Amino acid sequence: MGGLLNILSLFSLLLLLPLPSYPLPLCTNLRAPISLKGRLAFCPYNDGKVCCDAAEDLQLRKLFDAMNISDSTCSAVVKSIICASCDPFSAELFEVKSSPRSVPVLCNTTASTPISSLSSQTNNSFCSSVWEACKTVSILNSPFAPALQTKAELPQNATLSTLTDLWQSESDFCSAFSGSSDEKSLCFSGKPVSLNKSDTLPPPKGICLEKIDNGSYLNMVAHPDGSNRAFFSSQPGKIWLATIPDQDSGDTLELDESSPFVDLTDQVHLDAAFGMMGMAFHRNYATNGRFFASFNCDKDKSPACAGRCACNSDVSCDPSELSSIDTGKPCRYHVVVAEYSANGSSSSLSTAEKASPVEVRRIFTMGLPFTANHGGQILFGPADGYLYIMMGDGGSKGDPYNFAQNKKSILGKILRVDVDNMPSEQDKVEHNLWGNYTVPQDNPSSEDKQMEPSIWAYGLRNPWRCSFDSERPSYFVCADVGQDQYEEVDIISKGGNYGWRVYEGPVRFEPQKSPGGNTSADSIDPIFPVLGYSHSEINKLGSAAISGGYVYRAQTDPCTYGSYLYGDLYASHIWAASETPQNSGNFTSTDMPFSCAVDSPINCESVPNSDSPALKIIFSFGEDNRKDVYILTQSGVYRVVRPSRCNYACSKEVMTTAKPPQASPSRGYIMAIPHMGLMLLVSAVLFLDLFL
Ligand SMILES: *[C@@H]1O[C@H](CO)[C@@H](O)[C@H](O)[C@H]1NC(C)=O
Ligand SMILES: *[C@@H]1O[C@H](CO)[C@@H](O)[C@H](O)[C@H]1NC(C)=O
Ligand SMILES: *[C@@H]1O[C@H](CO)[C@@H](O)[C@H](O)[C@H]1NC(C)=O
Ligand SMILES: *[C@@H]1O[C@H](CO)[C@@H](O)[C@H](O)[C@H]1NC(C)=O
Ligand SMILES: *[C@@H]1O[C@H](CO)[C@@H](O)[C@H](O)[C@H]1NC(C)=O
Ligand SMILES: *[C@@H]1O[C@H](CO)[C@@H](O)[C@H](O)[C@H]1NC(C)=O
Ligand SMILES: *[C@@H]1O[C@H](CO)[C@@H](O)[C@H](O)[C@H]1NC(C)=O
Ligand SMILES: *[C@@H]1O[C@H](CO)[C@@H](O)[C@H](O)[C@H]1NC(C)=O
Ligand SMILES: *[C@@H]1O[C@H](CO)[C@@H](O)[C@H](O)[C@H]1NC(C)=O
Ligand SMILES: *[C@@H]1O[C@H](CO)[C@@H](O)[C@H](O)[C@H]1NC(C)=O
Repeated sequence: MGGLLNILSLFSLLLLLPLPSYPLPLCTNLRAPISLKGRLAFCPYNDGKVCCDAAEDLQLRKLFDAMNISDSTCSAVVKSIICASCDPFSAELFEVKSSPRSVPVLCNTTASTPISSLSSQTNNSFCSSVWEACKTVSILNSPFAPALQTKAELPQNATLSTLTDLWQSESDFCSAFSGSSDEKSLCFSGKPVSLNKSDTLPPPKGICLEKIDNGSYLNMVAHPDGSNRAFFSSQPGKIWLATIPDQDSGDTLELDESSPFVDLTDQVHLDAAFGMMGMAFHRNYATNGRFFASFNCDKDKSPACAGRCACNSDVSCDPSELSSIDTGKPCRYHVVVAEYSANGSSSSLSTAEKASPVEVRRIFTMGLPFTANHGGQILFGPADGYLYIMMGDGGSKGDPYNFAQNKKSILGKILRVDVDNMPSEQDKVEHNLWGNYTVPQDNPSSEDKQMEPSIWAYGLRNPWRCSFDSERPSYFVCADVGQDQYEEVDIISKGGNYGWRVYEGPVRFEPQKSPGGNTSADSIDPIFPVLGYSHSEINKLGSAAISGGYVYRAQTDPCTYGSYLYGDLYASHIWAASETPQNSGNFTSTDMPFSCAVDSPINCESVPNSDSPALKIIFSFGEDNRKDVYILTQSGVYRVVRPSRCNYACSKEVMTTAKPPQASPSRGYIMAIPHMGLMLLVSAVLFLDLFL
């Protein structure tokens, strides 16, 4: 009955809500655009989402005026370029990686439209138009100086230059500043970006899988050296280095269970919701051997793991009162991020097959208030090299202390820290740090003093698997596990508030207990999910928990290329979400049929009366260096393969290279035996509790 009421109220709420605002596009500062009512005084943007406020608009005017451009045609072109930083797509236009460029990517294709004053020209490339209009016009502190191609700063030293002073030819200039708009990237054509509405991708017909290993892993991380190897980790705390078989080779994962890369089980506390939750390899791992593990520990068993409690007076939380809210042992269990090193000398690190289990350095330690929802994935930003730490709200139903909305608490957050620069004792005190890391200068706390310095985004419940789109690093996609009603996928932007526990997905959430106070819906500007599903949609029993996956970028299945793949742990659903138009943040997901390739190297046990392989619990997803995507499940490791191996139609698949699928003679109902035996079976079942 209660369930029915919940469902009814869910639907009525959905109807009442305005269309959730898209978290995309993104601004050059990696924040979501702001709503503009009226128009900017200088730049040609009015109403809707923009990336400039009045003050930034004024700054752009000053910058532009200081260029002192006498020619009116060139002046109009340069103004449009300067103003592109107000465009709601500025993060994409300026190719924001570690630092944005000084000018946006200029369109170079015939598809782009030149600005109206130049429309009489037959040449349709905006880049050529800029060259034509400005080649002999003097610009003071030109933003087109070669040294500025990859920098956001502008020269300060009053140099007067023309394009021909700076570049040899149009082709020189255009190869430096241009790009063409395609499904992965945008370019600037002199006008605010408008997306190609007809640019729709049909969803794939199905996801074809092969089974390549029987083991249960929570994490897979590609070897940073770009090879066909990857690390796999288990919840109890072992990491293996495995060689990935080529697509179509018929081989299985080369992983020697008896010989892990490193065994941290002594340090890891394993229980229902506890264990080794994440691992990350430094981007220079191949030369520095640095890697990191994120796990839980029990202070009573290993005193070295004790740290500050997340429930403390800074966040109006008294640890002695926690046990009246929920059972558990406040601040006995911890979240730890620790650094380790591969064995070997610097020349042999890339090939190292072992690592020392001795902690090199403790990065982070925090005592947990309750026993669930502590995320634990760690991930290096591909563009900025900072370590992102996914932190759940700490557990207990409905986040009673409202930690996720509290900017002083690091629970219910995505943290972003620098592990390349260690803090001084003074830094630690000044910033009240939770460990041995420094705070990147552009973290949200630089603009919002209320924000704990390590916070990148907040209002999360239990972020379970985030990834960066390998083609578009500004797309930082995170799945966030819901409470009773709604599972969501968010695109994370700097300082973004993802709503929990004021909202669960797009739905208002009413906390049952709130000793830590409430946040009113009026006082926040939440960013709603781009994707999600309500529990009632997929599972009559109501248990559901999302696992985020990857934007599929492999060549293997061209019909899935560009779709975001994700799943549900318990309901064994896999979705492919496509974005229409491209770059809009408007995603539509399709509940995908999936089956096992008839020539799968390991036979897939099927769900009775079905073609679908029995995945059991979907723990997580993985991506290798070829961008092939893997599903890590309780029954083994599955890889997405060519659609034709499952007889799914995909006209884009190059059939000439494809071997015809061969029926396997012994395709029966085979009981899978978890290769780690009862221990893992038990832990996998206990793992259920993590999300329920
Ligand atoms: C701007 O350009 C004009 C000539 O077009 C020149 O007289 C003036 O001095 C320039 N101003 C600056 C600040 O360089
Ligand atoms: C058009 O572009 C070509 C090369 O892209 C260039 O050589 C030519 O000068 C341009 N024409 C005009 C009218 O701008
Ligand atoms: C001034 O600008 C010129 C041309 O861009 C550059 O070569 C020079 O290094 C700059 N000087 C300073 C002090 O920034
Ligand atoms: C843009 O066009 C020019 C010729 O006009 C060409 O030389 C250059 O390589 C092109 N750049 C890109 C990124 O396509
Ligand atoms: C818009 O997308 C369609 C389909 O992908 C494509 O055929 C067309 O050329 C695109 N138009 C522009 C202006 O890019
Ligand atoms: C790895 O290094 C650690 C100490 O740094 C050492 O104890 C261990 O034996 C080494 N393992 C191998 C397989 O070389
Ligand atoms: C910082 O590093 C030192 C040395 O490894 C360690 O003793 C300390 O516990 C670390 N601090 C935290 C909060 O993890
Ligand atoms: C918080 O909100 C809940 C539900 O709306 C309400 O029951 C509770 O009394 C509020 N608590 C406080 C401290 O305002
Ligand atoms: C969002 O995508 C759907 C489905 O592809 C499409 O029908 C709709 O027009 C799109 N909405 C916007 C605002 O582009
Ligand atoms: C995986 O398990 C199946 C069924 O128990 C077994 O036949 C197969 O040999 C195992 N494969 C590997 C690579 O461990």
